[in-house]
Amino acid sequence: MSRIRKRLAITRRLPEAVLARAVRDYDAVLNDDDRQLDADALVTHIGKADGALVCITDRIGRNVVEALAPEVRIISTFSVGTDHIDLEAARERGIRVGNAPHGVTIATAEIAMLLILGAARRASEGEALMRAGAWTGWTPTQLVGRRLDNRVLGILGMGKIGQALARRARGFDMAIHYCNRRRLDPSEEQGAVYHESFQSLCAVADVISLNAPSTSETRAIVNAATIAWMKPGVIIVNTARGDLVADDDLIDALASGRVGYAGLDVYQGEPRVDPRYRGLANTFLLPHLGSAAVEARNQMGFEALDNLDAFFDGRSLPFPVA
Ligand code: DGY
Repeated sequence: MSRIRKRLAITRRLPEAVLARAVRDYDAVLNDDDRQLDADALVTHIGKADGALVCITDRIGRNVVEALAPEVRIISTFSVGTDHIDLEAARERGIRVGNAPHGVTIATAEIAMLLILGAARRASEGEALMRAGAWTGWTPTQLVGRRLDNRVLGILGMGKIGQALARRARGFDMAIHYCNRRRLDPSEEQGAVYHESFQSLCAVADVISLNAPSTSETRAIVNAATIAWMKPGVIIVNTARGDLVADDDLIDALASGRVGYAGLDVYQGEPRVDPRYRGLANTFLLPHLGSAAVEARNQMGFEALDNLDAFFDGRSLPFPVA
């Protein structure tokens, strides 16, 4: 790279290969002990860097954006989601924002499939039994779950991750239905049945997978009223964002059995998790592992760096969001 080395603030510890490229090409300011930075600490850490490579744990609200030094001209996030960044505030300050849209796709679809399987086949209950040393042997009625074949998988949000999940679920002989802002082309649909409304999707789905970003339309889309549209005993899985679910309503429905099982990878206000989820036997809980595969994390980092490289070379951002 021939341009003058730029100063890049990196807010969390990155995968080795990503870090190696970052320190090769930038004067990197690192967060060596990988602590989560609050607003003040973020502003101090980013300081007078020319750009920042941030993560979903960095809450870059208007307060942070407005406190950044004028030297900071680009923020690139190691994530597809951008709900942790106030994009409007960044636009107003003339700070470009880019994301990493492709790296997460397959890894997150795999985790959604894992949650569906784990919920349908009661994996967490079985695992808990084994870890407690409490298994007394096979019985015809022990931890009997449900098969997935010929069940309807209802996908809310048929973007790249939703489509990757559909491809995997077809391998389990599930019928795919989806609700999305726009109907896909038949070539992308691959026989999946389109629903214009979430209500009509809920009415037919045995399993509902949330794969939509957090927006004003999707926040708390799983709530008491929408649960009432769903089939009794429905399985709900969430690999998108915790705030798509109204926790009180889902927890009540799980406790009553109205919702049969929930497989959750993301939580409102994470890493805090509503402790009632842990107390329910019919939950399968993971700690936001959607993108936690080495291939995904490397690609996410490279995509985030591609934005920065392009910006400082005077090219268009490959993955612009603001
Ligand atoms: C993302 O990229 O937004 C994911 O939530 C990270 O796992």
